[in-house]
Formats: sequence, C-alpha cells, structure tokens
Amino acid sequence: MDDNDDLAGVVVSKLEPHRGGPLRGYIAMLATKDSYRGKGIATALVRMALDTMIARDADEVALETEETNSAAMKLYERLGFLRSKKLHRYYLNGNSAYRLVLYLKEGVGMIPTYDPYTDLPPSAEQFADIEKNNPNQQLM
Ligand SMILES: CC(C)(COP(=O)(O)OP(=O)(O)OC[C@H]1O[C@@H](n2cnc3c(N)ncnc32)[C@H](O)[C@@H]1OP(=O)(O)O)[C@@H](O)C(=O)NCCC(=O)NCCS
Repeated sequence: MDDNDDLAGVVVSKLEPHRGGPLRGYIAMLATKDSYRGKGIATALVRMALDTMIARDADEVALETEETNSAAMKLYERLGFLRSKKLHRYYLNGNSAYRLVLYLKEGVGMIPTYDPYTDLPPSAEQFADIEKNNPNQQLM
C-alpha cells in the first residue's frame, strides 16, 4: 500500500508438501502498479513471501513465469531461482513458460516425490500396507 492507502503491488503465495516430498512454497501471483514499477517493490514483496516461507521451514519455492517476461525472469533469477523446466504452450494464449525453483536447503532436489499419474500418494500407500497386513481390520 502507498501513503494514500492505494494498492502499489501484490504477491500471493502458499506453502504445502509437494507430492509427498519437500515442503514447497508456491508464488501464484506477483504484480506492481505501472506507476510504481522499477522501484524494487516487487523484489521486496517476493523477499517478504520468501522470509515467511523460510520461517515456516520451507524446503523450496516454485513458480511459473512466461518465457518472454524479462522483468520477472530477471527479478527471480537475481534472487537465486533456477530454470527447472520449460513448459511449452503453458498459457491459454499459447505462450510458453519456465518453471523456476529456489532451493532453500542442501539436498532438497534429491527428496523423493510420488507421481500423481502412476503412484498412490504416500498416505494411501500407508493405508494399503495396513490393510494388507491386517486383512480383517476395518479402516475408517
Ligand atoms: C514483473 C513485475 C512484478 C516487476 O515489478 P517491479 O516492482 O518493477 O520490480 P522491481 O522494481 O523489484 O525490479 C525487478 C527488476 O526487473 C527489472 N525490470 C523491470 N522492468 C523490466 C523490463 N521491462 N525488462 C527488463 N527488466 C525489467 C528492474 O529494472 C529490476 O532490475 P534492476 O534492479 O537490475 O534494474 C512488474 O513488471 C509487473 O507487475 N508486471 C506485470 C505482472 C507480471 O508480469 N508479474 C510476474 C508474473 S510471474
């Protein structure tokens, strides 16, 4: 907010386990009003979001940005985000995106995750194991 209580910029983020693996922060939206751009406001907002996620023990932070968005790419790469994947035609307008990831702890990239298309989530696997070992026990 500026001195007149008008919105100068916004960041929207969330934090949750990613596919049963790392605790992943996600930046869903970042924007600053035209007249406030180039003053470091977006960088400050992203730092605030990162600090909050770090305080909550996040392992990594991810987001997607349009490949042609040089302002956003520059901002995030300067904060240490890496290009992890190119997502072809990711947006409805047909444009491609990069998934950017910031690793906050050593070895985070090695934490195993499950594939939602082929695996059961770990919680369901636990139930399956319990059921297999206790065939007569009623779960839930
Ligand atoms: C991207 C956006 C949030 C940047 O906001 P901002 O408040 O201007 O960002 P900052 O002032 O913190 O500047 C970040 C860096 O990007 C640079 N930058 C700004 N506009 C740029 C442009 N058009 N091309 C290249 N770099 C640019 C800034 O110069 C600054 O780098 P510097 O300090 O080395 O000069 C803003 O342009 C915006 O709201 N865009 C529309 C929404 C959007 O694209 N959001 C990102 C979705 S992932």
